[in-house]
Amino acid sequence: MNHVTSQPHAQPRGLAARAVPGLPADFRWGVATAAYQIEGAAAEDGRTPSIWDTYCRVPGMVVRGENGDVACDHYHRMPQDVRLIADLGVDTYRFSLAWPRIQPGGRGPANAKGLDFYKRLLDELEAAGITPWVTLYHWDLPQELEDAGGWPARDTAHRFAEYAALAYDALGDRVKHWTTLNEPWCSAMLGYAYGNQAPGRQDFGDAIRAVHHLLLGHGLAARHIRRAAADRGNELELGITLNLGTATPETDRPEDAEACRRADGMGRRLYLDPLVRGGYPEDVVADLALRDAVLPVQEGDLAVIATPIDVLGVNFYRGTLFSGVTEDGSPVDAEGLPVTRGVERDLPRTAMDWEITPTALTDLLVGLEQDYGVPTVITENGAAFDDTVDADGQVHDADRTAYLADHIAAVAAARAAGADVRGYFAWSLMDNFEWSYGYDKRFGIVRVDYETQERTPKDSAKWYRDTIRLTRGG
Ligand code: NOJ
Repeated sequence: MNHVTSQPHAQPRGLAARAVPGLPADFRWGVATAAYQIEGAAAEDGRTPSIWDTYCRVPGMVVRGENGDVACDHYHRMPQDVRLIADLGVDTYRFSLAWPRIQPGGRGPANAKGLDFYKRLLDELEAAGITPWVTLYHWDLPQELEDAGGWPARDTAHRFAEYAALAYDALGDRVKHWTTLNEPWCSAMLGYAYGNQAPGRQDFGDAIRAVHHLLLGHGLAARHIRRAAADRGNELELGITLNLGTATPETDRPEDAEACRRADGMGRRLYLDPLVRGGYPEDVVADLALRDAVLPVQEGDLAVIATPIDVLGVNFYRGTLFSGVTEDGSPVDAEGLPVTRGVERDLPRTAMDWEITPTALTDLLVGLEQDYGVPTVITENGAAFDDTVDADGQVHDADRTAYLADHIAAVAAARAAGADVRGYFAWSLMDNFEWSYGYDKRFGIVRVDYETQERTPKDSAKWYRDTIRLTRGG
């Protein structure tokens, strides 16, 4: 599990930090994590298993059969981790609440001990002057709800709204920033169509039912939170986080333009049109019908889903080049369906094998502004690289620093082009459990030694801290 190798020679140093032109002094700076990826303490204080606890135990699903039982042991090291966050000089910390801690089994009353952990976290953050940014659902569906049908079942949307109400009612007086769901595309498509994330099912129709029920759950939760905040006189900034990229045609072939329309439809408009415009895009509904998949919309659902949001969370990792033909030049695949094929480019890549495409972030943000006009915050951006610990005990991750610098510059460029982007959160605070990749892929700006649980800020963390300070004018 531990890939630390001592290097005989120091690696090249990274970029020097400087103020980022174009980012205002009140720009929000943060770091982000998610409960299952860092907390550990999987069976403590009443927490019950989520779909990830189950999935990790299915042989072959996670690299080396790893799981989040211990992860970064954050549950036991939380005060120290908050000091780490404070040392970075960020103003905001984005984290998620574990549904199976707060409402074990996904039904019934709140678990006081589960809530207690988050209350203590809020205490620590408050003492350190850091604003909490809470995500309600970062993929840890209580296993009992999956057994009852999971997200393809309509009832799960109502269960989510009930859990959101428990969480808001307990913590809403202390938390202004609420995100309902993290990356519903991943929950639906990776979880229910492709099966490479929990719960690991492979049924396209189920995945599309999951899309609708995730959005409905978002809307029901948003409606409750809006009302509860108004009743209590609480300030509120409510949103949802989507994983978004860009779709660029490989050539000027009409098939490539069509492939981009389909990719943008399935990845972006299928979510944002109902959230912001009150209806599913007709062309995407028609694309789905070709695969016999139907969004199970009932009367009133679309109005619930369109409950106003204040901010759109954007998780950005890469843009993609698309072709609308197979490698043999056919516009249809073996099943007779139109081809939407990602094409590899000769670009630098991260350890996830993801192409590094910072200008795509500018294009994405400008496009969001034009198409939807909702203020955005980058709720995740960052990169895994094969870090090494140098002879001096430090991680000189010049590659990660360059990735962050280029993407933050891309955000500033989007602002200059008129996009209302209000903040940037690095993914992630520290190395953590990267889902199906286990502990193999390190996204942290702080290194975690999983044998000792020692945390060591990497060069990128120091660069990030200095960049924030200089940009604020400090
Ligand atoms: C998005 C997810 O929200 C997060 O949990 C994950 O670790 C990062 N992407 C990196 O893959």
